[in-house]
Amino acid sequence: MMTQQKTCLDPVILNLWHPLGAIDEVAACIVVETVLLDESVSFAVDEDRKVFVWRSRTGLRPGDRFHQLAVDDLLPARSAYGYVWTSLGTPSDDIFPIPEYAEADRRKLNAATFGVNVSAPRAIENFLDMGHFPYVHTDILGVEPHTEVKEYDVEISVDRDEILATRCRFYQPMASIASDGGADVEYIYRVPHPYCSVLYKSSPLDETRMDVIAVFLQPLGEERIRAHMMLCVLDDTNADKIIKRFQQTIFGQDKPILENQFPKRLPLDPRAETPIRADKSAIAYRRWLSQKGLTYGVIPVAN
Ligand SMILES: [Fe+2]
Repeated sequence: MMTQQKTCLDPVILNLWHPLGAIDEVAACIVVETVLLDESVSFAVDEDRKVFVWRSRTGLRPGDRFHQLAVDDLLPARSAYGYVWTSLGTPSDDIFPIPEYAEADRRKLNAATFGVNVSAPRAIENFLDMGHFPYVHTDILGVEPHTEVKEYDVEISVDRDEILATRCRFYQPMASIASDGGADVEYIYRVPHPYCSVLYKSSPLDETRMDVIAVFLQPLGEERIRAHMMLCVLDDTNADKIIKRFQQTIFGQDKPILENQFPKRLPLDPRAETPIRADKSAIAYRRWLSQKGLTYGVIPVAN
């Protein structure tokens, strides 16, 4: 079934920064074309790693050599956490902070960029859900009979305008590629952006620190996304491709689950889907999106 295309009219989403692609994966000064909110946009990264983004209307085609003078309608552009970001509206000065990204001893990688036919909010909600670990990521992030989602705390921080879930713990047979066996793993989830989430989990190498795994969703349209998986982890042993493959395996298990979600947009009415497993963070997330008046990628509460 074809998804009906429509231009995004949601001011909340239009004014946000959105990721377009991993900087390390594009050749310097070569035009790359992608889609954001059903609009065709192009970007390039120059030799100094400065990023440029524009609506794909000018003469430059994908694969062309980039010249700034050939583009007359530049969009806001930022480089952050290894990705190119842009906005189709009037964005805030800064993208949300991830202070750990500045720590020199961490490995920083784009684990993968996956196209998924689902709305961004459905994918964020799945990322927050620990209840599916034993069933979807069997023998990796969970295993029976360790299926219980233990009590944890969730708050919507008014100051930082983000959701914070703390004291999450789950028994994991293989929490990361650096693990040497099963362990009770502690998680902290942040949702600092309607379409991005940052997960902190206990480091198998250093009990005082946490690995950071973020999912930055690029809304191609209301019901299709590109999910960029950012890693910022403590691991001085494994090669990049081994670390990436671990996350790719996990995301490959989530993708068919996400694409089978119905409806593809996330219903915000608390009565629409009850009960939801591991539901506290999902309920907070839906409430937060409702408070923002978000309409894109969701089914708003009927008035
Ligand atoms: Fe999953």
